[in-house]
Amino acid sequence: MRHLMSPLDFTVEELNNLFDLANDIEFNLDKYKNACTGKILATCFYEPSTRTRLSFESAMLQMGGNVIGFSDAGSSSASKGESVADTIRMISCYAHICAMRHHKEGAPMVASGKSSIPVINAGDGGHQHPTQTLTDLLTIRSLKGRLNNFTVGLCGDLKFGRTVHSLIHALERYTGMKFIFISPEELKVPDYITDSLKSKNIPYEEVIRLDDVIPQLDFLYMTRVQKERFFNEEDYVRLKDFYVLDKEKMKNAKADMLVLHPLPRVNEIAVDVDDDPRATYFKQVQYGVYVRMALILTLLKTVRRDEEC
Ligand code: NCD
Repeated sequence: MRHLMSPLDFTVEELNNLFDLANDIEFNLDKYKNACTGKILATCFYEPSTRTRLSFESAMLQMGGNVIGFSDAGSSSASKGESVADTIRMISCYAHICAMRHHKEGAPMVASGKSSIPVINAGDGGHQHPTQTLTDLLTIRSLKGRLNNFTVGLCGDLKFGRTVHSLIHALERYTGMKFIFISPEELKVPDYITDSLKSKNIPYEEVIRLDDVIPQLDFLYMTRVQKERFFNEEDYVRLKDFYVLDKEKMKNAKADMLVLHPLPRVNEIAVDVDDDPRATYFKQVQYGVYVRMALILTLLKTVRRDEEC
């Protein structure tokens, strides 16, 4: 039985198969409408989410499966002091697969160790967000036809943004990548990420001004400043509007540069960019459903009958 904790849990070849399946789902939705009949997905969300939770639920419902779960820690037994390990043992008897989001780094990993059903990390603290990364990779592969030879700009909160951490790790495995990290000094990408790039001789630059580098980029991954992970309000207020991508800035970008964003957006992309054909963030949401459908199908197939609760 397989779980998904990090995008690196799948080999590049396994990811390709997953994306092929997601594209098949995209063009033949009808073929999959009963693919999960009789199966139950549990969404255990200890931290708020709109997109990821509803995306998982929509994915399961579109394949004829059912969904149970909770959408905040307060409405689960966590509020009574139950551990994640105990909760997942119980959920294993109610559902066939579980998507878990938690404010603590590593919580879904702890759950997977005690689970008899596949567990998907749907975001753990500031650490990883593998299904957002699968969404991002599928979007890029579908729209650009490849996953190598890109100059990638990542902009905003590179310190706390888990989507960024997962995406960089995943892209490191493709050839011809160059990273440009665009952030204020206080929100730089963590050292463990730059150390990993250095050890693999993957080129990267760290800059503060978006305007200086935007003409070079093949895609620009914008992120919001992660308010909930700041220790004081003052720093957040000072940094929250550090970057605003607008129509004017887009004039200097390549004609085919994709603008990606995991959403939710706050102010970092002006709404006047939404009509630009390069704005890809709402398309990403749709790819997110297809890739989660493909993931649920793939992980359910890894469960042996004798492993089921
Ligand atoms: C991201 C997350 O939760 O990390 N959102 C998402 O899942 N699409 C990004 C964010 O909250 O800024």
